Amino acid sequence: MKIGILTAGGDCPGINAAIRGVGKTAISEYGMKVYGIASGFRGLIENLYTELDEVQLSGILTLGGTILGTSRDKPFKGDPTVENKIPKLIRKNYNELGLDALVVIGGNGSMKTAHKLTEEGLNVIGIPKTIDNDVWGTDVSFGFDSAVWIATEAIDRLHSTANSHKRIMVIELMGHRTGWLTLYSGVAGGGDVILIPEIEYDMEYVARYLEKRARNKKPYSIVVVAEGINKPKGMSAASFVSQAIRDKTGLETRETILGYVQRGGTPTPFDRILSTRFGAKAVELMVEGKFGMMVSKDGEHIVPVPLSEVGGKVKLVPPDHSLIRKTRKMGISFGDKKI
Ligand code: F6P
Repeated sequence: MKIGILTAGGDCPGINAAIRGVGKTAISEYGMKVYGIASGFRGLIENLYTELDEVQLSGILTLGGTILGTSRDKPFKGDPTVENKIPKLIRKNYNELGLDALVVIGGNGSMKTAHKLTEEGLNVIGIPKTIDNDVWGTDVSFGFDSAVWIATEAIDRLHSTANSHKRIMVIELMGHRTGWLTLYSGVAGGGDVILIPEIEYDMEYVARYLEKRARNKKPYSIVVVAEGINKPKGMSAASFVSQAIRDKTGLETRETILGYVQRGGTPTPFDRILSTRFGAKAVELMVEGKFGMMVSKDGEHIVPVPLSEVGGKVKLVPPDHSLIRKTRKMGISFGDKKI
């Protein structure tokens, strides 16, 4: 068999581990030919590819980013006159390259495109990748654990400077339109207030909560906010929240937007293992002829989920998530009136 691999959407730690998992399984177990397609779906459209062999696949397990490059190109979105030419071009390139299957490593947008390519007749397997952990149909995507680790380490460092200056520290984390990364990092980092898009917050209540902490001789507070929370257009979440705290409490407040460091560097051991398992499973599904599927984590198992069920959905944090229920009882505030 000849297979292609592409990586699309935002990069994250673990992508190269997934490429390695697919490539090494395909080559050493099944003697397949493996092609890396450059820059996400753009590489399929522009026919940008290179053969991957054991040499290219060695030494990349721990490497951040993606050796293939990525883009946010969406072949099925855009000018309708061009639109229906793109799928035909992709199918032409796929057939001329002689591919028997294509592995798409990406987030929920990429899984939607992967499903559409399946409908175009390509044999596609999806692997869920994103620091946001917002891909529906899997317990977790790789990249998430690494981003939680990076964000938690940053929050740990904010405690010491907040304590030295007796300040309120506001830190904004990524996560696109969901709060998974902020919830897990906020709890792991000992945040006092955690604001996520899935729970409507009230800055009046946040202010009263922080004043109460100050009255109770708490020397500082840590406020962890998701980039996707409700806020004025053109303002970052961190700026909006920290300004509102200053205005409503007079407490000395500073803000940090952690940004792209959450997407960089080497994957955690958990993500290396998850990426490897996802990659190996993707090849098994190909050999079994099970296409149009995304590999997913379901408890301790790696199982296939139909792309038709995944594409275009966003996995939101349930407001009654056990982590939220338990930390509310510890006195953590989620910015709403429920305590
Ligand atoms: O999807 C990953 C992510 O980092 C989101 O958390 C963030 O909102 C977005 O990508 C940033 O997009 P870009 O890399 O195009 O700036």
